[in-house]
Amino acid sequence: MLPKKLLCSPIAFFLAFFIAIIGISFVPAQVSEINAQKSKSDSLTGNAFCIQCHGNIYYGLKNPETGKIHRKMMSINGRIDPTVFKKSNHRSFQCTNCHSIEFKKFPHSEKALLEEIGSCIDCHSGDSIAEKYKFDLIDEDFQKSVHATKHSENFTCWMCHEAHSYKVNATTVEYDNSMCLSCHANANKYNLILNKSNPNIIEKHEWLPNQQAHLQNVRCIECHARVNDSILVAHNIQPKAKAVKLCVECHSTNSLLKQTLYKYQSRVQISRNGYFNAAILNKSYVIGANRNYYLNVASVVILLIVIGGIAIHIILRTTLKK
Ligand code: HEC
Ligand code: HEC
Ligand code: HEC
Ligand code: HEC
Ligand code: HEC
Ligand code: HEC
Ligand code: HEC
Repeated sequence: MLPKKLLCSPIAFFLAFFIAIIGISFVPAQVSEINAQKSKSDSLTGNAFCIQCHGNIYYGLKNPETGKIHRKMMSINGRIDPTVFKKSNHRSFQCTNCHSIEFKKFPHSEKALLEEIGSCIDCHSGDSIAEKYKFDLIDEDFQKSVHATKHSENFTCWMCHEAHSYKVNATTVEYDNSMCLSCHANANKYNLILNKSNPNIIEKHEWLPNQQAHLQNVRCIECHARVNDSILVAHNIQPKAKAVKLCVECHSTNSLLKQTLYKYQSRVQISRNGYFNAAILNKSYVIGANRNYYLNVASVVILLIVIGGIAIHIILRTTLKK
C-alpha cells in the first residue's frame, strides 16, 4: 500500500527522503541520550530483592538451622517478568513505591496482603502527564462504563492497565485487545470480578463474518465504547445491546472508523492524497471506505463519455438508416 501512495505523490516521496536524511544525521545523539536515560532509570537493581523471587519460575528458601536451600515454584500469578517491567511506563519505580514496604518481610504479613494500592488519579492529577492524556476526562468516561457502574469496588484502572507491563501504546490492535481478552478470554480473572460463567467471545461474535480478520484489525473498544471526542481513547464501555452491529458504520465512506480507529494517526492524514479515509489505509483495506475523490470524479467523467458515445452512435445509426 505504501509504495502506491508514494508513487501517487512525488512531493511526499521527496519529503520523506529529505526527513530520512535529517533523521540519520541525528541518530548518534539520540542513541546516547537513550543510553544515558537507561542507566538512570535502571531500577531493577533496587528491585533485585523482590525480583529474586518474583522474577523467576523458582526461588530458594534457606533453612536457617540446617542451611539447606529449598527450591520452590513461584505461582504464575506471582511472576513479574523483569524485562517486560523494564519496558513499562513505570519502569523507573521501586516495587515498594506502589506496594507496601511491609512486603520487604517474608513470609508477607497479612497487613501487606491487605494493602490498598493507589489509583492512577492518586498520582496523576495536576501533573503534566495527567494533562497530556486528560486523566480526569478518562476517569469521568470510565465511571460511566458497565464495568464501573456494576463493579465499582473491584474494577479499577489496573484491571486493564496491568501494573507491571502497562505501556502507553494506542498503536496496535493486538495490544489493546489483549487488555480486554485478559478477562473475556480468561475465566479466572473474569471470576475475580463476577463469579458467573464467562461468555465465550468467539461464539458471541459469530454473527460477524471473517471474525478473525475483524478481531485482528478492529479494536474491541471501536464497537463497545461510546465515542468521545475530547479524549483519544474512549473508556465508556457500553452494555452489549448498545454495541456497534451495523456493517455500514465502518464499511462506508462516512465511517465511524474514521472517527475512532487510529484516530490519533488520522488527525493529520484524513483527506490528504484525496482519500476519504486515508488513515485506515495504513493498516487495512476496508471495503467501501477506501475510495478516492479523484478516481470517483474520473469514473463519473468516463461514464458520461461512454453514455454520450452510445447516444451519438444510436442517433447516427437511426438517422442514417432512413
Ligand atoms: C523469598 C521470596 C519472596 C520475596 C523476597 C518477595 N516475595 Fe512477594 N511473594 C512471595 C510468594 C511465595 C508469594 C505468594 C505468591 C502466590 O502464591 O501468588 C508472594 C506474594 C506477593 C504479592 C501478592 C500478594 C497477594 O495479594 O496475593 C505481592 C504484591 C508481593 N509478593 C510483593 C512483593 C514485593 C513488593 C517484594 C519486595 C519488596 C516481595 N514480594 C518480595 C515470595 C517473595
Ligand atoms: C505502578 C505501581 C506498581 C509497581 C511499580 C509494582 N506493582 Fe506490583 N502490583 C501493582 C498493582 C496495582 C497490582 C494489582 C493489585 C490488585 O489488583 O489488587 C500489583 C500486583 C502485584 C502482585 C500480585 C500478582 C498480580 O499481578 O496481581 C505481585 C506479586 C507484585 N505486584 C509484585 C511486584 C514487584 C515484584 C514489583 C517490582 C518489580 C512490583 N510489583 C511493582 C502495582 C505495582
Ligand atoms: C504511585 C504513583 C503512580 C501511580 C499509581 C500511577 N502512576 Fe503513572 N507515572 C507516575 C510517574 C512518577 C511517572 C513518570 C515516570 C518516569 O518518568 O519514569 C508515570 C508515568 C506514566 C506514563 C508515561 C507518560 C509518558 O508520556 O511517558 C503513563 C502513560 C502513566 N504513568 C499512566 C498511568 C496509569 C494509566 C496509571 C493507572 C493504571 C498510573 N499511571 C498509575 C506515577 C504513578
Ligand atoms: C476496560 C479496560 C480499561 C480500563 C478499566 C481503563 N482503561 Fe485506560 N485504556 C484502555 C485501552 C484499551 C486503551 C488504549 C491502549 C493504550 O493507548 O494504551 C487505554 C488507554 C489509556 C490511556 C492512554 C490514552 C492515550 O492518549 O494514549 C490512559 C492515560 C488511560 N487509558 C488511563 C486510564 C485510567 C486513568 C483509567 C481508570 C480511570 C483507565 N484507563 C481504565 C482500557 C482501559
Ligand atoms: C478485569 C476483567 C475485565 C476486563 C479487563 C474487561 N472486562 Fe468487560 N466485563 C467484565 C465483567 C466481569 C463483566 C460483566 C459485568 C456484569 O454483567 O456484571 C464485563 C462486561 C462487559 C460488557 C457488557 C456485557 C453485557 O452483558 O452487557 C462488555 C461489552 C465488555 N465487558 C467489554 C469489554 C471490553 C471492550 C474490554 C476491554 C477494553 C473489557 N470488557 C475488559 C470483566 C472485564
Ligand atoms: C464489529 C463490532 C464488534 C467488535 C470488533 C467486538 N464486538 Fe463484542 N459485541 C458486539 C456486538 C454487536 C455484541 C452484541 C451481540 C449480541 O447481542 O448478540 C457484542 C457482544 C459482546 C459481549 C457480551 C457477550 C454476552 O452476550 O454476554 C462481550 C463481553 C464482548 N462483546 C466483548 C468483546 C471483546 C472483548 C472484543 C474484542 C476482542 C469485542 N467484543 C469485539 C460487537 C463487537
Ligand atoms: C468496527 C468496524 C467494523 C464493523 C462494524 C464491521 N466491519 Fe467488516 N471490516 C472492518 C475492518 C477494519 C476490516 C479490514 C480487515 C482486514 O484488513 O482484513 C473489515 C473487513 C471485512 C471483510 C473482508 C474480510 C477480509 O478477509 O478481507 C468483510 C467481508 C467484512 N468486513 C464484512 C462485514 C460485515 C458483513 C459486517 C456487519 C455484520 C462488518 N464487516 C462490520 C471493520 C468493520
